[in-house]
Amino acid sequence: MQLQMIWPVTKWETTVRPALAKGYVLRTGRREDAAAVTELLVAAGFAEWNLEMFGQWLDRAIPDGLWVVEHEASGLVVCCTWAVHRPQAIYPFGGELGWVGCRPEHTGKGLSSVTCAAVVQRFRQGGYRCIYLSTDDPRLPAIKTYLKLGWIPNLVEPDMAGRWQAVCEKLGWPCDLEIWAREVEATKARW
Ligand SMILES: CC(C)(COP(=O)(O)OP(=O)(O)OC[C@H]1O[C@@H](n2cnc3c(N)ncnc32)[C@H](O)[C@@H]1OP(=O)(O)O)[C@@H](O)C(=O)NCCC(=O)NCCS
Repeated sequence: MQLQMIWPVTKWETTVRPALAKGYVLRTGRREDAAAVTELLVAAGFAEWNLEMFGQWLDRAIPDGLWVVEHEASGLVVCCTWAVHRPQAIYPFGGELGWVGCRPEHTGKGLSSVTCAAVVQRFRQGGYRCIYLSTDDPRLPAIKTYLKLGWIPNLVEPDMAGRWQAVCEKLGWPCDLEIWAREVEATKARW
């Protein structure tokens, strides 16, 4: 199973607004962005992405749930993150943050922290309490972005403690398994 993270109850009242690098603008995405967003997600490594998938995911996104960063000089859409209504057994009424991607030539500027923060904010405006994401162990830039914003690991399978320890070691990030477990329980109690 992919690594799981949730937006903790301790941050429900906090608005996180990372600074956007100069020369870029943040905006919501729309159906006309289909080709641009598909191109960027393919460039970010999601080779399976295509226009049909864009339509399918846009239908699952909440209104104003697709956030993109545009490069002002070129007009290119260079980064995106999606807010998708996607409840699961372990995530009642869950909103999933997904499809985070940045064109490789525009990484290293923290652009995805801006789109991810916008997605969390949008979910909160929409009344979502259960906000989650799934990711893969090698996706270190993404995981560091999530940890820095305040997301916490949700250890839903026994092997995940060891996997998080390995990830944190690679990132030089404190691995507070007990603190996280307490925060997860407090958050779930409010779902
Ligand atoms: C995830 C992604 C959008 C992040 O791009 P970005 O917003 O430009 O992020 P950055 O490159 O600024 O990296 C974020 C942080 O990770 C760090 N980082 C980057 N590569 C790293 C690595 N290999 N090991 C450890 N840390 C790394 C950066 O130094 C940065 O830390 P800082 O904020 O303390 O400086 C981009 O890497 C991407 O498109 N990846 C492929 C798709 C993907 O993995 N999506 C996530 C799916 S869950």
